[in-house]
Amino acid sequence: MASDAATPASLRVYGRRKGKPLKPLRQSTLERVLPRIRVAVPDGGLLDPRSLFPTRCKDVWLEVGFGAGEHLAANAAANPDVGIIGCEVFINGVASLLRYVDAQKLDNVRVYDDDARRILASLPDRSIARFDLLFPDPWPKARHAKRRFIGPETLDLLARVLTDGAELRVASDDPGYVRWALQHLTRHPAFTWTATGPSDWRSSPPDSAETRYQKKALRAGRMPIFLRFLRIPRQ
Ligand SMILES: C[S@@+](CC[C@H](N)C(=O)[O-])C[C@H]1O[C@@H](n2cnc3c(N)ncnc32)[C@H](O)[C@@H]1O
Repeated sequence: MASDAATPASLRVYGRRKGKPLKPLRQSTLERVLPRIRVAVPDGGLLDPRSLFPTRCKDVWLEVGFGAGEHLAANAAANPDVGIIGCEVFINGVASLLRYVDAQKLDNVRVYDDDARRILASLPDRSIARFDLLFPDPWPKARHAKRRFIGPETLDLLARVLTDGAELRVASDDPGYVRWALQHLTRHPAFTWTATGPSDWRSSPPDSAETRYQKKALRAGRMPIFLRFLRIPRQ
């Protein structure tokens, strides 16, 4: 689904923005919590990510396409001194994350409920200390390759906003997407792969909570692959 006919093709969001109608409790949690933690991207201006959080945070992390939010919420609970911005265009996913935020009083979570590429473009240089992209939509057909989140343009944006040594994690159970992500990441001069052998990409990082799509892949007998790269320090 294209979000808007006036949106340039490079910034068109494909995929669902809405699913089944929300149950009344989810809807009321969404209405109560989202306005408090929603991130607004200034038109043409820069967004200071640290200013989004009530207390000083050690670092700011970004998770794109958090889906039902289980990984983001677990990260936020385990790292209360870090501010985490989650981006998700699917409103049912946002509502699902807000359950955890509300029940666990996670005041270190902020939500951008629009295309993550917009917020990336508005973040200052060296402002994000970790980036997670877990089980992104694979868009397996070659003619849809431009819709994949990983690509030269987003990697350039990430190279700019990530701090020196920041970790970038991408997970997928789609062999085509894994090959695609590896090609683009290994070719990009700003990133280096941390893997030393197959056990590094065949097992999920020990601190990584299982996501819905990860569980789905395992149930279907597909092997999730975890790619961990670092932002090479600038000279
Ligand atoms: C296949 S799902 C994976 C969800 C979750 N990470 C998981 O592993 O269960 C991919 C998610 O990315 C979201 N998404 C796709 N493109 C996006 C974009 N440009 N900005 C923000 N979210 C996006 C979709 O709405 C969808 O919920």
